[in-house]
Amino acid sequence: MNIYELLLDKFKHALTKVGAPEGAQAPLTRSTRPEFGDYQFNGAMALAKVLGQKPRDIAEKIIEAVELDGIASKLEVAGPGFINIHLCSQWLAAQLDSAAQDPRLGIEKEAANTVVVDYSSPNLAKEMHVGHLRTTIIGDAVVRILEFMGHKVIRQNHMGDWGTQFGMLLAHFSDQLQEQVAETALSDLEDFYRAAKVRFDEEQGFADRARDYVVKLQGGDSQCLKLWQQFVDISIAHSEEVYQKLNVTLKREDIMGESAYNARLPGIVSALKEQGLAVEDQGAQVVFIRELADKEGNPAVYIVQKSGGGYLYSTTDLAAMQYRSFELGADRILILTDARQALHFKQTEIVGRKAGFIREQTSYEHCPFGMMLGSDGKPFKTRTGGTVKLAELLDEAVERASALIAARDSDLSADEVNQVAQKVGIGAVKYADLSKNRTTDYMFSWDSMLAFEGNTAPYLQYAYTRVQSIFRKAGVDAAGLTAKIQLLEPQERALALQLSQFVEAIVQVERDATPHVLCAYLYDLASQFMSFYEACPILKDGVEEDVRNSRLQLAGLTARTLHTGLNLLGIDTLEKM
Ligand code: ARG
Repeated sequence: MNIYELLLDKFKHALTKVGAPEGAQAPLTRSTRPEFGDYQFNGAMALAKVLGQKPRDIAEKIIEAVELDGIASKLEVAGPGFINIHLCSQWLAAQLDSAAQDPRLGIEKEAANTVVVDYSSPNLAKEMHVGHLRTTIIGDAVVRILEFMGHKVIRQNHMGDWGTQFGMLLAHFSDQLQEQVAETALSDLEDFYRAAKVRFDEEQGFADRARDYVVKLQGGDSQCLKLWQQFVDISIAHSEEVYQKLNVTLKREDIMGESAYNARLPGIVSALKEQGLAVEDQGAQVVFIRELADKEGNPAVYIVQKSGGGYLYSTTDLAAMQYRSFELGADRILILTDARQALHFKQTEIVGRKAGFIREQTSYEHCPFGMMLGSDGKPFKTRTGGTVKLAELLDEAVERASALIAARDSDLSADEVNQVAQKVGIGAVKYADLSKNRTTDYMFSWDSMLAFEGNTAPYLQYAYTRVQSIFRKAGVDAAGLTAKIQLLEPQERALALQLSQFVEAIVQVERDATPHVLCAYLYDLASQFMSFYEACPILKDGVEEDVRNSRLQLAGLTARTLHTGLNLLGIDTLEKM
């Protein structure tokens, strides 16, 4: 049951009854303090202006009209015309009683949309580095949540397996190496890439040859394609290793790299030309975007074909847009990349919509995120200034977690310590990223992500194990509980309200692709649980049986909500730690 949605519906209905025009604003928020109730409706002020009446009078009329018998215990006008909504505790308890009996915790699936999610999308022939960590982690949480809500999700790993860097690599490759040594050379892609890049930047004529290779490759030259395939296979195997370490759901069949669009690119350019959208400019094919003109009125320049005939990142993204909208039937297309690409996607959408490469009803959503920074506030690098390899970073996370767990006072065996370290280490890296608002830069810090206090994975994982230990002590199986929930103490009620709002956090992430909202929710939930547990003894002598069972039920719901929530974020829980 989504209480927010229910209240919103009721208030919209009430607005109509008091004479509000259609589509009138219906602002509903959570109350910031318990004395203001649980939710607050703030639609009276705007309506008062429209109707030319006093806001508090309108608020009174709305209270008269809204049908919340049995749901709200009290509705009151406050301040200039706010309506404070106090939910009825019995009703709240009944909602949780039914959530407790439902494997989905009372969260209904929605009408299924087809949602294409483009995430991770590393550039091949280079090792995956931290630059691809954020898109991979955030994207994977988003797809899990969309699927949980019933949508048909199509993952698209738009790997950079085409384009200029391959020309450079192939030119270097063809000069230097015999077929049989290819394997070994490619076992360290990073070194290979660096060597090629040095030549590209410094050696006379090399850059031109690299560009010729791109054209040859894009033209389907079979020798080139063979070399290219070797790079790609080794590179993909490497990213799959990282995905596995990270517990990310991307599979090989989700790969739809840039190369997959190659055959469609000439058609994209000719369609743009036919429509008069692309014109020749210094030998290249470009679209001038007047909507994005600079201050002097010069339109933005969007190149779709280079003078040598080569296609670009933009051409491929137009082809991808068309494929996703028309062939995959996407209702939504989400693309997760860092914020520096925001302009590119804005331009792509403008051009694509004009050219009819996307159906009108398909929404095209670039979900940008900030950079990952080191503790010095500069882009995250190794101590020697190199790019940090993802695989190494993840190994370090597990090592650090292992040292921390081993230092704690626990009865875990060495084997168990390893398992816990795995889940805590990887969980910490993922959660640290997920819990920050993605649009801002984020500072990578081992100490804060591995802390057992604060908004971290270890804290939430630990909170979960604490609830599990209550059940072990009580000797009851959480799944078998049937007791009715009673909300007597304020901490019980606060926990109940928080539990009931799980779905509200989820639908927000579903809409905005912002997993930090779910993280904040889970952190609040764990904190509410701790206050509840301090104030409301469960297993102590003298606690009446129905009270004890009700509290166990609340504890069980907390554990299941933490488990489900962390799972949706791609983070494992543990029974003990
Ligand atoms: N490979 C690109 C990069 O690493 C990201 C691709 C994102 N998706 C897209 N359709 N352009 O920056």
